[in-house]
Amino acid sequence: MKKRVGIEALAVAVPSRYVDIEDLARARGVDPAKFTSGLGAREMAVTDPGEDTVALAATAAARLIQQQGVDPSRIGMLVVGTETGIDHSKPVASHVQGLLKLPRTMRTFDTQHACYGGTAGLMAATEWIASGAGAGKVAIVICADIARYGLNTAGEPTQGGGAVALLVSEQPDLLALDVGLNGTCTMDVYDFWRPVGRREALVDGHYSINCYLEALSGAYRGWREKALEHGLVRWSGTMPGEQLARIAYHVPFCKMARKAHTQLRLCDLEDAVGPGPGTPEAREEVAKSSASYDAQVATSLGLNSRIGNVYTASLYLALAGLLQREGAQLASQRIGLLSYGSGCMAEFYSGVVGEKAAERMARADLEGVLARRERVSIEEYERLMKLPSDAPEAKAPAPGTFRLSEIRDHKRIYVEGG
Ligand code: HMG
Repeated sequence: MKKRVGIEALAVAVPSRYVDIEDLARARGVDPAKFTSGLGAREMAVTDPGEDTVALAATAAARLIQQQGVDPSRIGMLVVGTETGIDHSKPVASHVQGLLKLPRTMRTFDTQHACYGGTAGLMAATEWIASGAGAGKVAIVICADIARYGLNTAGEPTQGGGAVALLVSEQPDLLALDVGLNGTCTMDVYDFWRPVGRREALVDGHYSINCYLEALSGAYRGWREKALEHGLVRWSGTMPGEQLARIAYHVPFCKMARKAHTQLRLCDLEDAVGPGPGTPEAREEVAKSSASYDAQVATSLGLNSRIGNVYTASLYLALAGLLQREGAQLASQRIGLLSYGSGCMAEFYSGVVGEKAAERMARADLEGVLARRERVSIEEYERLMKLPSDAPEAKAPAPGTFRLSEIRDHKRIYVEGG
């Protein structure tokens, strides 16, 4: 029998502070409706230098192990997908191994391709288990990032930070992946990038949206071709994309998920055989359907709207938000997932939600994780943004979380809140 492989459980870590997005709009002299309904944001996570990618990744992994009762001796692989690592050579994964005292027998490494890095790690772990090479061990894949464009930039309201840790195993209580049916699309573009040594990303914002949509089309069509061959979807009264119970997208800002969904529907409308809307304008109108967006996408965006872009973790925050809200009713149903990373790379894949998804998500206590945050003023946010990255403020970490305490001889030293 073919192995069932996928995501058994997840945990989320967020920075300890956030700003209200309307406060940010007012401070920038912008109509708050542009950030709330124009971009779909409510709140934005704010980090300080002590809450770096290692600290967030270690906190998420420690939480996963503790909440879900993972036996560390069963972990055979630890991957961190990130584009905001802390060293050109030493991976974040090695810090997490040391901080959590995880087995020295594990394979550890980081994966990077902008926001796609986490999915690259997830697929490496999934295929390692599916091939049998994992020999019964489980993998932890952590997607951890801090999205930073800088004060007074167009990207500013789409910043954020955090980490999602995924337990990948042969017991996919959250999501059993349709291994091998993934569709991929890659293009050499400069839509968003961060040259070595720069703290803030550079971005060609509107062009990046077009690149996302073009790569999505390629990846979705690639998945659809295989899904049709395997009888997972078919051309019938409903379009193939509509046969997925829900679709979680990479969410750089929430409105992007709406644009992505319209594009996915356009792919189906353009490729459908038989009668349908005849003109591009008519197809565009059908593709934009609010009813379809509300039914297939809207419920996944609760966490993203309160945290902001978390690059590699954004898709997995959407998955977490979806299963938190609808884990029970989605049990045994197939959903689609679209990962996008600038530069660029898109991957569309699918999986079946597990019977125990709601129970696993309850243990992740996502409401509690968000409720422990502190709302800060725009003045405080700006002060934190201006702090040098190598001089963390003295602040005791909350119980169960990690912080960078100092950098000595170019080595980073972390403390754990007891
Ligand atoms: P902007 O140019 O300031 O905003 O920046 P805009 O003028 O495009 O307005 C945004 C939306 O608000 C528009 O809606 C406006 O109509 C609306 P749309 O037409 O697109 O549906 N709007 C209003 N709505 C209500 N009331 C109002 C109002 N005014 C305007 N008063 C931009 C927007 C996204 C470009 C900017 O924030 C940015 O550069 N962000 C960063 C780049 C980004 O997120 N790109 C997404 C695709 S690339 C990607 O996802 C990869 C990434 O995650 C990185 C990685 O892979 O590592 C970024």
